[in-house]
Amino acid sequence: MDIIQINNLTKKFNSLAAVDSVSFSVSEGEIFALLGPNGAGKTTLISMLVTMKKPTSGSASVNNFSISKNPDDVRRSIGIVFQDQSLDEELTAYENLELHAAMYGVEKKEREARISEVIRMVELEDRLHSIVKTFSGGMRRRLEIARGLLHYPKILFLDEPTLGLDPQTRNHIWEYIKKLKKEHGITVLLTTHYMDEADSLCDRVAIIDHGKIIALGKNEDLKNSLGGDSILVETGHAKKLCSLLKNFGCKGKPKTHDGSLTLYVDHGEKKIPKIVELASKNGIHISSIVLHKPTLDDVFLHYTGKTIREEEASTNEGIRGRVRAMRMR
Ligand SMILES: Nc1ncnc2c1ncn2[C@@H]1O[C@H](COP(=O)(O)OP(=O)(O)OP(=O)(O)O)[C@@H](O)[C@H]1O
Ligand SMILES: [Mg+2]
Repeated sequence: MDIIQINNLTKKFNSLAAVDSVSFSVSEGEIFALLGPNGAGKTTLISMLVTMKKPTSGSASVNNFSISKNPDDVRRSIGIVFQDQSLDEELTAYENLELHAAMYGVEKKEREARISEVIRMVELEDRLHSIVKTFSGGMRRRLEIARGLLHYPKILFLDEPTLGLDPQTRNHIWEYIKKLKKEHGITVLLTTHYMDEADSLCDRVAIIDHGKIIALGKNEDLKNSLGGDSILVETGHAKKLCSLLKNFGCKGKPKTHDGSLTLYVDHGEKKIPKIVELASKNGIHISSIVLHKPTLDDVFLHYTGKTIREEEASTNEGIRGRVRAMRMR
């Protein structure tokens, strides 16, 4: 069942289409990533789905409730972790959770048990009565996830859940998110600009750039759509080796250039020993072999002509340029 359905959703800020006619669905129990560079429209899209921003046009339903007609029902169905931290620093973890439970109408007699349950889920039980000001970035993020889960949401929205965290803490948070799916059947829609996060955590990915979805699918399918793994072989006899690879199961024509040969194949790791064997049988010396498996960055590059980092750099330069222009006025 599709628990989120989005049809031609658009948000304009004056002439800028921050989200431009976006349509896709998310199935119940899926971990789904919106992957895109700074300014792609990820937060704006999530803000509409959680009913914090009104769409300019288009429609969407979350847990079968329309975001425009039944915003209260949508809010009761979801938990949200914002990109910017939204905990009260002067309060303890317990007080933050208690406040949120009261706001979301979790019955008083249920609250204690529920708070213990979610705090255990993120392994912060020994810090329950510490003031949030004393928490590290990773601990705050975990507490925010716990808070988002308090009122038994069916869907959890996470905007950049691991931004700025160290690799170990990021892995930890990925584990919690996987556990939510596995043990509690919660659907997770998250945004990220980390390729590895989308790759190792999510069932499906929508790549978003300049407000538009440019590719959507299972990670493996997106990567395979690029034409397989590439193998770069350095040898003084590239042309001769190339001619021996006629029945090798290459996808497309191998390319020879300056003492090297590039070929495209499925399961490149299994092909490498065969290339070495073939070369040695024919007296061809190989100086190196490099296998490259397509990444989501390659998918981004394929559809936009830029890597996600170049895109971010140009967006940041655009923002800096605008700030400079404003200062000069
Ligand atoms: N309230 C607003 N008023 C005007 N423009 C806005 C507003 N909110 C967002 N934008 C613009 O909409 C575009 C998309 O912004 P958004 O915050 O959705 O991007 P994002 O993908 O979440 O980026 P990041 O990775 O930096 O969080 C940007 O160009 C941004 O400047
Ligand atoms: Mg954002």
